Amino acid sequence: MAALWPFVLAAASGILAIDTPHSSSPALHHLTKQLLQTYRKEVRPVHNWTQATTVYLDVSVHAVLDVDTQNQKLKTSIWYREVWDDEFLSWNSSMFDEIREISLPLSAIWAPDIIINEYVDIERSPDLPYVYVNSSGTIKHSKPIQVVSACSLETYAFPFDVQNCSLTFSSILHTVEDVDLAFLRSTEDITHDQKAFLNDSEWELLSVSSTYRILQNSAGDFAQIQFNVVIRRHPLVYVVSLLIPSIFLMLVDLGSFYLPPTCQARILFKTSVLVGYTVFRVNMSDEVPRSAGSTPLIESSVCQEYQAPSGTLMEVWSQLRSISSYFQTQDQVDRQELGWLALLQRFDRLLFQSYLVVLGLYAVTLSSLWVSWSG
Ligand SMILES: *[C@@H]1O[C@H](CO)[C@@H](O)[C@H](O)[C@H]1NC(C)=O
Ligand SMILES: *[C@@H]1O[C@H](CO)[C@@H](O)[C@H](O)[C@H]1NC(C)=O
Ligand SMILES: *[C@@H]1O[C@H](CO)[C@@H](O)[C@H](O)[C@H]1NC(C)=O
Ligand SMILES: *[C@@H]1O[C@H](CO)[C@@H](O)[C@H](O)[C@H]1NC(C)=O
Ligand SMILES: *[C@@H]1O[C@H](CO)[C@@H](O)[C@H](O)[C@H]1NC(C)=O
Repeated sequence: MAALWPFVLAAASGILAIDTPHSSSPALHHLTKQLLQTYRKEVRPVHNWTQATTVYLDVSVHAVLDVDTQNQKLKTSIWYREVWDDEFLSWNSSMFDEIREISLPLSAIWAPDIIINEYVDIERSPDLPYVYVNSSGTIKHSKPIQVVSACSLETYAFPFDVQNCSLTFSSILHTVEDVDLAFLRSTEDITHDQKAFLNDSEWELLSVSSTYRILQNSAGDFAQIQFNVVIRRHPLVYVVSLLIPSIFLMLVDLGSFYLPPTCQARILFKTSVLVGYTVFRVNMSDEVPRSAGSTPLIESSVCQEYQAPSGTLMEVWSQLRSISSYFQTQDQVDRQELGWLALLQRFDRLLFQSYLVVLGLYAVTLSSLWVSWSG
């Protein structure tokens, strides 16, 4: 019997070594094992089921990657954070070598099923496998996401357009009695957060306003948090490549009225201006955004230029005039033709004046609208 004592003692010390955290087994390993041993990730982590789990959300917009007006899609890169409390993942840090925070695999724990309602496309977002848990059971999960979301994009005010797109977060299944949402930061902080935004893109971030609301439908009441991302286009590149050339062409067209109607070069001049417009329009058609609902005001400006009755009619009339002047040289004493010429000259002046008025009105309307939009 006495010979067995050393074995008994050795076995007992072996058992003790497994159970005390400060011995051979590392504290991190021990703590993780302790936390996950009895953990069930299928169960919402609350002791009292009537208590809702509140998920705190935060979004900061990192970049605007693509604004697709034709398909009404917006692609943004955002940094998304969610924080919630897990009542089954807390520990006394003085019993575990003062560990206050550990990382656990996301796949091993319960996580809320929060989605963006406007999602239209799955984009490459890295799948981050770990979350941070601190000793009071608070879980922090953050990840960058590329969101391709449906958005009603307006192109009427192009290139001074402002777009307002929303990203709505809500649990796909859980009602507000089970999963509630809240803001991680104050809404003022979110609204004016531009620290992470890449400034040198085509778009400027104006604000990210956010609202919390409860959506009621037949399946129950759902908590929702909506972020409204408001962005404005930097218009400079379009002013230089689109507005200035088209204004220049309009002025050249206007200048052609100063050539006398009998001058042959006038037709050539007018035709060149028309060819100029066409080439310009074909080249620029890729630059101007399109949507089925509305066309940019600027594009219709170029069209209007064509449709301006004076422009095309002038061509016809000046050709007629040249024909008449041809006959005039053939038969110089024909008084009727002289009368025609005088009439046509008067008509020419009338067209010029109406062209000027239409152009002036158009320019005034366009520039006043643009000033109000860009201001
Ligand atoms: C759960 O919480 C509710 C409200 O806070 C309370 O009335 C109820 O007694 C709690 N149930 C248990 C089992 O603790
Ligand atoms: C944590 O453990 C230490 C030592 O075992 C004990 O003194 C302390 O009261 C415990 N704290 C809590 C909150 O249980
Ligand atoms: C855990 O994190 C939450 C949220 O950041 C904080 O309120 C809490 O004090 C932290 N607990 C400990 C023990 O650090
Ligand atoms: C953006 O749209 C939302 C609703 O769709 C509206 O509440 C918000 O005021 C708009 N923001 C701006 C800056 O227009
Ligand atoms: C973008 O500009 C804002 C202010 O205009 C600034 O606060 C922010 O740090 C800038 N972002 C980057 C990434 O430079």
